[in-house]
Amino acid sequence: MAQTDKIVHALDARYYTDPVIFKAEQNGLFLRSWQFAGHASQVEKPGMYFTFELAGESLFCVKDRDEEIRCFYNVCMHRAHELLSGSGRSSLITCPYHAWSYSLDGQLKAGPNIDSVPGFDKSDICLTSVRVENFHGFLFVNLDPEAAPMDEWFPGVRAELADFVPHIDRLKPIEFVEIPETCNWKLSVENYSECYHCSLNHPTFSTGVVKPETYDIQPQGHCLRHTTECQNLDQMSYPIDMDANAFAGDYSSWFLWPMFSFQVYPGNVLNTYHWRALDVDKVVVYRGWYTIDGAESETIRNLAVQDRQTTVEEDIRLVESVQKGLNSRGYRPGPLVLDPKGGVASEHSIAALHSWMREAVAKQID
Ligand code: FES
Ligand SMILES: [Fe+2]
Repeated sequence: MAQTDKIVHALDARYYTDPVIFKAEQNGLFLRSWQFAGHASQVEKPGMYFTFELAGESLFCVKDRDEEIRCFYNVCMHRAHELLSGSGRSSLITCPYHAWSYSLDGQLKAGPNIDSVPGFDKSDICLTSVRVENFHGFLFVNLDPEAAPMDEWFPGVRAELADFVPHIDRLKPIEFVEIPETCNWKLSVENYSECYHCSLNHPTFSTGVVKPETYDIQPQGHCLRHTTECQNLDQMSYPIDMDANAFAGDYSSWFLWPMFSFQVYPGNVLNTYHWRALDVDKVVVYRGWYTIDGAESETIRNLAVQDRQTTVEEDIRLVESVQKGLNSRGYRPGPLVLDPKGGVASEHSIAALHSWMREAVAKQID
């Protein structure tokens, strides 16, 4: 085989700039993948609910009387008014338009004058439900009723997370940092998924959190698993108790295709990324920070600020510059650096992402 046959090139610019491709993703990938909805602590008690937007749809999660967490499209089955907004607690879901009301499991219970309609059967009418999975308290939804369960998409991740964060089932969010970026969602996800750029662009992360020379990223089903060692203790930018458990000194992250990542900093500090694609060149990244029982923690607050002011800020500049560059008539997709040994200076994780990105669009456009 000629040497050039082995070269893998980056995705064409149109994947990041063409509204037709974005539409294809919105009508396909976004509807058929597991997407983060919120945290179980937001619906701790029966009747508690929160609404959210996904792929142009308004949805809500609610805990029913049997303590089951459900997800529904946020639309009334009468004449389509939105049912709920924001978050709150209620024993019934009542539509603000004509006051039809539904029980917490989505069944129509009552509506003014509906009994006057000959043959009207309330039991025929139920809100449209959406698949929801509780992944250690993190709620994910999939608008595809036939979707394979998360453990098939992301093999091993549930058990690994429980090892790395022994207290994961007691966590609650204390902070969500919202980061708008003027770029296509895939650029932000790709930038997250390689550390080839870290030493040059993230001095604090590279010298005060992890040892870049030990960084590696490997596919695990549709998860990209990041592993590295933490920085020498005397250089860490925050204190950690290495004796707390077996993984106290490790950094690891689990990126769940296409738009979520669990990230564990040394000291078993769980934080998350999730992305919402708003348009072909607009994405919002949310950084979630969690503590046991949601306890106040100066260390975590400081870490969130440090992260926002360093890694996040540094990444915004990179991805926004790339978005501009992809609009340049002078750009031709360059070769990826695929080191057969893997490691921090290799872009094999980008090759995996690009193949998933191509496949998602091809499925929709064919
Ligand atoms: S649209 Fe909801 S009650 Fe009429
Ligand atoms: Fe980065």
